[in-house]
Amino acid sequence: MAKTHTINQLVVIGLGLIGTSLATACKKRGVCQRVLGVGRRESVCEQAVSLGIVDQATTDIKTIAPLLGEGDVIFISVPTLTVKSVLETLKTCIPNTVTITDGASVKGSVEQDVRSIFGDDVSNIILGHPIAGSEKSGVEAFNPDLYADHRIIITPIDGNSPSHIQRVKSMWQAVDAQVLEMSVKDHDAVLAATSHLPHAIAFSLVDTLAHDSKNANIFRYAAGGFKDFTRIASSDATMWRDIMLANKASVLDAIDLFSNNLARLRHSIETDDATTLTGVFTRAKVARDRFTTMLSHQAYSKTMQDQKDAHIVYKVAPGGTVNGTIRVPGDKSISHRSIMLGSLAEGTTHVKGFLEGEDALATLQAFRDMGVVIEGPDNGEVTVHGVGLHGLTAPTGPLYVGNSGTSMRLLSGILAGQAFNTQLTGDESLTKRPMNRVAKPLAQMGATIGTAAEGRPPLEIQGGSDLNGIHYDMPVASAQVKSCLLLAGLYAKGQTSVTEPAPTRDHTERMLRGFGYDVKRENDIISVQAGGKLTATDIDVPADISSATFFLVAGAITEGSDITLTHVGINPTRIGVINILNLMGANITLSNEREVGGEPVADIRLQYAPLKGIVVPESQVPLAIDEFPALMIAAACAEGETIITGAEELRVKETDRIQAMIDGLKTLGITCHATEDGAVIQGGTLKGGTVESFHDHRIAMSFTIAALRAIGEITVNNCANVSTSFPNFTDLAKQVGISLDVIRS
Ligand code: S3P
Repeated sequence: MAKTHTINQLVVIGLGLIGTSLATACKKRGVCQRVLGVGRRESVCEQAVSLGIVDQATTDIKTIAPLLGEGDVIFISVPTLTVKSVLETLKTCIPNTVTITDGASVKGSVEQDVRSIFGDDVSNIILGHPIAGSEKSGVEAFNPDLYADHRIIITPIDGNSPSHIQRVKSMWQAVDAQVLEMSVKDHDAVLAATSHLPHAIAFSLVDTLAHDSKNANIFRYAAGGFKDFTRIASSDATMWRDIMLANKASVLDAIDLFSNNLARLRHSIETDDATTLTGVFTRAKVARDRFTTMLSHQAYSKTMQDQKDAHIVYKVAPGGTVNGTIRVPGDKSISHRSIMLGSLAEGTTHVKGFLEGEDALATLQAFRDMGVVIEGPDNGEVTVHGVGLHGLTAPTGPLYVGNSGTSMRLLSGILAGQAFNTQLTGDESLTKRPMNRVAKPLAQMGATIGTAAEGRPPLEIQGGSDLNGIHYDMPVASAQVKSCLLLAGLYAKGQTSVTEPAPTRDHTERMLRGFGYDVKRENDIISVQAGGKLTATDIDVPADISSATFFLVAGAITEGSDITLTHVGINPTRIGVINILNLMGANITLSNEREVGGEPVADIRLQYAPLKGIVVPESQVPLAIDEFPALMIAAACAEGETIITGAEELRVKETDRIQAMIDGLKTLGITCHATEDGAVIQGGTLKGGTVESFHDHRIAMSFTIAALRAIGEITVNNCANVSTSFPNFTDLAKQVGISLDVIRS
């Protein structure tokens, strides 16, 4: 076999779209020395040669069999139910050194055919299925790029030899396809649902309209929707007839499931049940918008993960000032809680100002996956049709919450009280974060929660446990732990109470009260009593002070800046950043102070004044826990030394934020060092350079604003996760005067 070729010769049996496209893909890319074709009719063979699809063609494989040996591949691309007769012929003339593969859409029936003809002697017969096609058919439909970036599923069977499997994989990879492996059974079940069922429906719908409709000219009135929906009804009729029959059992299961759901939809229309209709349509829309979810049977979209894999780099020009009046997106903590409590409430909750960032959307999707009908978000507006404390239903797969620690920790409290089992998973960063801080106290309440090693996600939460109220003395000041236990307390017997070692954000307590649930606070002990109910309410989410912080610090470090952030939440448990910046000498004024839906808000104006280094009071640390990355930039631009202590929690956030900031600041020429629970930073001159965000949104945004005071360009790597908390950060940054380029690769 020539070294430059992936395979030696390719023989394509069946000169339709699938076969001719592989033939031309291989020729175009120099995958093999030559391509031979086997067609049913002379005329097709001649056409295939004259179009340059194959080098030579015949109607009888036996005539070319003597030319074939090790390193050659035969690709069978005939209708599924014809595969058997082709295999019978191959058995008589092809040695088992030649690799045989196929492209049939059903694998179970082909495996049966293979077994009936070859028995256990199947080392060289590798079943596969290219997930690519077109409604076009015939020899002229060939497309040499049909498989580029498409998936090819290889379904190995017992007795296949690794070298033959590898040859088939290499061939497909050489035509730019992505190869995956699956069992025959899984393949047929998945394809029945995602391909065979839609084809059956499309054929049946068009047939119904064409033949059963009273209006003979019905298609004249059909517009784009009809065209999009029925495109696949133009596909090859014989091929699809074969597929339905070959995959009978799985196709029938899929049709039954669909028929039942259609009957339910019919019933909801008949009974004017708008909520059920909204539920079906919103769930379907989300699934369609992120439709890899459906294919992977993941409860929450993995497209988030795909986005993250996209490399996003910010290049920020040095210098500038920030000016103007802006409103940053909704508070992340409050957005999460609005969906959780709205879902568990009785009645309909309207949310305004909802943060449409990936973290809060992960929570929203999790509740949709548990049967809650949620409309939106649409410009920050969300309508949650609450199901009551006991109305959630089991999700069909793991709940995937991406990068969001808040979703995972708070949800675990709610899920511990449910009757069904759940699995909570997240992205790579979340998978490294400690969950024992919630799993352990929940276990004390009677929950059964499994974790991966060292208390890391995924979490396996068993339903049906009887929870008992406990008193828990929190070892760390964590609003997430407190909230998790209070939410579990809604389902526990008696009273659940928590002591916090220092005040932490109290959005859960405030919002529970807003939903009419009594929450008591005595000194540092917060408690709830089980047995109550939540009543739907309206929520106006203030702008997130944690997002506003980047612009406050941006203004505080650049002479001439004057910036106003409107409608910002100034809950006393969140204003550590204002207190700390004030101590450093910043000029901050609050105006228009008011309360919306139980949360205080104000407009915050910052006018530049020089900053000085300080010893950050430890009492402020939990009140500014998410703001330290930005505050460390302020410290680097202040005169003198800033000392941060008591902030060891920063080491277990989306990344180790102490180390990430110190590493980046050092790269930018600042004298600083990390301590176990904080950092010591000398104010100085920021040079330009390239810094790592470690996929942490707040690290990325902090180094972005640092460029305002730098003397050279700052490049920040891995910024895709900014969308978890602040989807329009770069737009607002540019609007107020930061020169920023977003580079995607
Ligand atoms: C949050 C609490 C904080 C914070 C996180 C959001 C919340 O975490 O860092 O971004 O919404 O309850 P801890 O409670 O773990 O400190």
